[in-house]
Amino acid sequence: MAVMDPDSSDEVVDHLVDFFDRIAPVYDTWAGGQHGRVASRLVDLVAPAKHEQVLDVGTGTGLVAHLVAPRVSPGLVFGVDLSDNMLSIARSKKVKNVQFVGMAAEHLVFRPATFDMVTMGETLAYLADPTTALAEANRVLKTGGRLAVSCHRRSLNTRAQELFFQGLAPLAKRHYLSLPRYSSERARFGEPDVLSQILNAAGFEVTKLTEMVTGGRASDARDWTELMAGVGPLPYTLIRSLGPRYRNELEAEVEAAMASLGDPDDAFRYHHSYVLVVAKKR
Ligand SMILES: C[S@@+](CC[C@H](N)C(=O)[O-])C[C@H]1O[C@@H](n2cnc3c(N)ncnc32)[C@H](O)[C@@H]1O
Repeated sequence: MAVMDPDSSDEVVDHLVDFFDRIAPVYDTWAGGQHGRVASRLVDLVAPAKHEQVLDVGTGTGLVAHLVAPRVSPGLVFGVDLSDNMLSIARSKKVKNVQFVGMAAEHLVFRPATFDMVTMGETLAYLADPTTALAEANRVLKTGGRLAVSCHRRSLNTRAQELFFQGLAPLAKRHYLSLPRYSSERARFGEPDVLSQILNAAGFEVTKLTEMVTGGRASDARDWTELMAGVGPLPYTLIRSLGPRYRNELEAEVEAAMASLGDPDDAFRYHHSYVLVVAKKR
């Protein structure tokens, strides 16, 4: 596996944190609570046990941390993130044995071999430097400790999603927007073989791997663009930067693109697909 590109420029990090700060208020309700469902599957897969000490990296609103806490109590859960708005929502849900701290995944302040378990729910592909973050997770885990990771699997997107995302780059160009973009390598983090290789290279042995595919259909172009705005920084920034006139134009283009799919059953159909892995520190 080639060394992963660190996107450690301040611009990328600021842009990402800004995105998560903005979507924080709607994160838990996006797509009918999709992130909560993924968090719940991940926690069931890693099966936390009483007294375990846990670190939740990129904790966001604390979805994973809050599900883990009652299962490890009186063990403690630390949730770390860089987005203040995400963290303040996480802290607003009062749970005794969880603490939320502003900290980068790449620079953990914890001592080596502190935790029984590290969780990274839907976070790895967003980190400035995934390689360093995995090395840090490995360092703070005890030998034999578990790392639980979930990642969005893009290759199972529907034809409608593919077509929509292909149209975003020309749209950005038309509106003179230059945005930091993820490498195609990051877009493949959710492929089961790729994620296994990445974890293996970081000193972990994959012990459980499962997939989750859910989906549905948006009712129209407005509903579709609202949903897709929550998928990531690029669609979010683009869609939110359009004034009413260009937003209407975009929705007309989306209608036309959906009609061009030919089969009405394909139009406005989306998948939310994930790979979920538990790996042991070697
Ligand atoms: C998609 S959210 C995942 C939230 C939560 N883990 C879940 O399962 O729903 C990704 C989170 O990673 C955080 N994040 C991004 N880069 C980070 C970094 N370098 N260090 C710590 N957290 C980071 C973001 O602020 C965001 O809250």
